[in-house]
Amino acid sequence: MKLTEFKTVFLSGKGGVGKSTVSSALGLYFSEKGYRTLVVSLDPAHSLSLTFDTEIGEKPKKIAENLFAVEINPEREVQKYLERVKREARELLSPVVIGEIEKQIELSYYSPGALELATADLIYRIAVSKREFERVVFDTAPSGYTVRMLTSPELTEEWFKRLIALRKEALKYRKMAGEKVEEDPVLKILDRRLREVRELRNLLLSPETLIGIVVNPQSLPVEIGKRTVGELSSAGIEVKLIVGNKISSEDEKELIEREFPQIPKFFIPAMGKEPKGVEKLKEIAKHLKVKPKRGN
Ligand SMILES: Nc1ncnc2c1ncn2[C@@H]1O[C@H](COP(=O)(O)OP(=O)(O)O)[C@@H](O)[C@H]1O
Ligand SMILES: [Mg+2]
Repeated sequence: MKLTEFKTVFLSGKGGVGKSTVSSALGLYFSEKGYRTLVVSLDPAHSLSLTFDTEIGEKPKKIAENLFAVEINPEREVQKYLERVKREARELLSPVVIGEIEKQIELSYYSPGALELATADLIYRIAVSKREFERVVFDTAPSGYTVRMLTSPELTEEWFKRLIALRKEALKYRKMAGEKVEEDPVLKILDRRLREVRELRNLLLSPETLIGIVVNPQSLPVEIGKRTVGELSSAGIEVKLIVGNKISSEDEKELIEREFPQIPKFFIPAMGKEPKGVEKLKEIAKHLKVKPKRGN
């Protein structure tokens, strides 16, 4: 596996295994190869400020040559996402119905799935539509939520398809009733949304996208890692890399080899001190290579 062939990376795993550390090291690795790189934290427990040892906010901050980092607050993204949806609705609908619709949108803030939808929308903008970086590494929130987020485009696609079918049905009856129906703005927005979720899904399935799981050589991180591999695979998404982090013996390596037999792996030793700041992360980055299998 050649790491630089991947343009977009998502790292998942249990809290504390070293997602932020490995994401930061990976970002550093790309930037040192000359790629303009962004590391994005989607975890509310903002940890890139810790790994890079400098204050990072909601605007990309330059860390080193070619390397930028940003910490996104998912809760605030849900708010922003719903504001955008409301703005769109206001442009389309008459003031009579808009009050009711806005109430619905407010309510959906509390609905399950809003966070995943908003995050999916955000990833779409950073990695697809407004992409400004040659390499983007997403340091994601702990596992369960990540899986829902990565698999939500599939669900969302179904949802938009159904809405489009309903809308077309309604338009058909209006035409039959003799109404002159020009290009329908609602249908236009729904079509655009459908196109966006498809593009996001394509991003997740692309050979240029790397989805990896960070584990430690203990049973809980390994179990959670295995569950994530299974859940993603049933959504058709392949986990292409396991990062065995905080390794202190050959036995520990072998444990991880055994538990994830088919997936390429990196192994990173346990450091004596917390790897913080660019210099320490460079040491981590040295281990970002797949050990060739014996006999190959
Ligand atoms: N290889 C390593 N050796 C020693 N400590 C590490 C290593 N990788 C990460 N850590 C430490 O483990 C803790 C959790 O790492 P972090 O990257 O914040 O995990 P996550 O983002 O998965 O919650 C941090 O204190 C970090 O410095
Ligand atoms: Mg983290």
